[in-house]
Amino acid sequence: MDTDRGEGEARGLCVGRGDGLCLGGSGGTTGAREGEGAMYERALAISDVTLRDGHQSMFATRVSTEDMRDALPAVEAARYASVEAWGGATFDAALRFCGEDPWERLSVIRWGLPTTTVRMLLRGQNLVGYRHYADDVVDLFVARAAIGGVDLFRVFDALNDVRNLERSIAAVLANGKRVEGGICYTTSPVHTPESFVEVGRRLAELGSEQLCIKDMAGLMTPAAAFELVRALRRKVGLPVVIHTHTTNGFAEAACMAAAEAGAEEVDGAVGPFSGGSSLPAVETLAVIAQAAGRSVQVDLDAVEREAAHFRNVRAKYKAFDTGKSGVDGRVLRSQIPGGMLSNLISQLKDLGASERMAEVLDEVPRVRAEMGYPPLVTPSSQIVGSQAAMNVVTGARYSVVTAETRDYFRGLYGRPPAPMDEGLRAKVLAGEKPILERPADVLPPELPATREKFAALDPSDEELLILALFPQIGQAYLEKRRTAQSAAAAGGVSGALPAGAPA
Ligand code: CO
Repeated sequence: MDTDRGEGEARGLCVGRGDGLCLGGSGGTTGAREGEGAMYERALAISDVTLRDGHQSMFATRVSTEDMRDALPAVEAARYASVEAWGGATFDAALRFCGEDPWERLSVIRWGLPTTTVRMLLRGQNLVGYRHYADDVVDLFVARAAIGGVDLFRVFDALNDVRNLERSIAAVLANGKRVEGGICYTTSPVHTPESFVEVGRRLAELGSEQLCIKDMAGLMTPAAAFELVRALRRKVGLPVVIHTHTTNGFAEAACMAAAEAGAEEVDGAVGPFSGGSSLPAVETLAVIAQAAGRSVQVDLDAVEREAAHFRNVRAKYKAFDTGKSGVDGRVLRSQIPGGMLSNLISQLKDLGASERMAEVLDEVPRVRAEMGYPPLVTPSSQIVGSQAAMNVVTGARYSVVTAETRDYFRGLYGRPPAPMDEGLRAKVLAGEKPILERPADVLPPELPATREKFAALDPSDEELLILALFPQIGQAYLEKRRTAQSAAAAGGVSGALPAGAPA
């Protein structure tokens, strides 16, 4: 374990070129330590998340592999530190909406980016789904993703319950790949730099080689970014990567403040897929970092070729454009992530209670406090949001409890950052005992039963994982594929799928 390797680097509060410019360290909030005065120029690495978060944030994750393929030569030439191109919602959306095999997309990306570090976003024990899967599913998923071309796994848990990351991190390391431990950023009375440092320490112990501050709701102010990065660099010592969204208008400033405090890397999306509920533009990050005296290796000519491609592609996905631009004061004040707000709007519409949005926005923080202040990210954002809507619409709090809320109080999602409201927990569980161990410890292996259930499809490992994660849409997708394969075989085409099939 090399948690002390960053000790020297942790003093990197000074940027500039020996001209006496020292940012951050001399501000006097904690006082400069001995040795902090050394000046040196530092690089700022930039990663591109266009192919994952960019379209997930802006176009409901609808961009097809075909529309990514032609951008890959430019992305490869751009020399990003890494390219996040898979995972998160993309696996589900590829199957559900694009009628595509997500494993084939990974293969296309791998071939198109031969020397680039390909990164995926892995939701710990939730993998790329919305519940905890058994350890055998985690092991096989990580193994196939590693073989399929993922170099670097950014692993996180919605509750920052590190127990939910143990298995997936061990699996990544067992496959000889790299781990970046994600810390979900949020604000609450129990979230302090020290509490995040504690998560960072655990992630380092498990074998993360770097840490990501994952601010999906764009809540991190520049001042908070500076303080948190400084704490992580000093007390954990691993390199820090910043992932923050432009939702509230903090992101570019937060990235630069983080860089001044010693962050090594920032995430962005290519210009046409940046801003709003997405991330800062990689172009902007590169230019402002260079202007601050940081060396940036990104090739902006190649980025412009990537941007030109996605400017054209954008028009095709107009129907899915979340249309978010500019800052939403409601999100800023309530600290409810933009994606959660749009879910709440549609949920209230379904319940015929659209006019009660203001009450729901007031209820969300109450429910969140009772649930122990979970960060609001998939799936906790849906759990808190749905329950808050129920509480308002029924007029009697927790008279109706969603299945997810019950599971949450049972401990099936893990341990929240603060204790849950025990009285409420007892009421919801009605005598049932909560689970205190790692949630996946109570899950029996799932793959043998999945293989048996879908034996008629004779699935490959990758197909088996599709079935284990998304049984219904997976089955429909694979049945269609088998029909196309038989038709191709009957027509004398040797097992290969006809172009474009199965849709
Ligand atoms: Co994000």
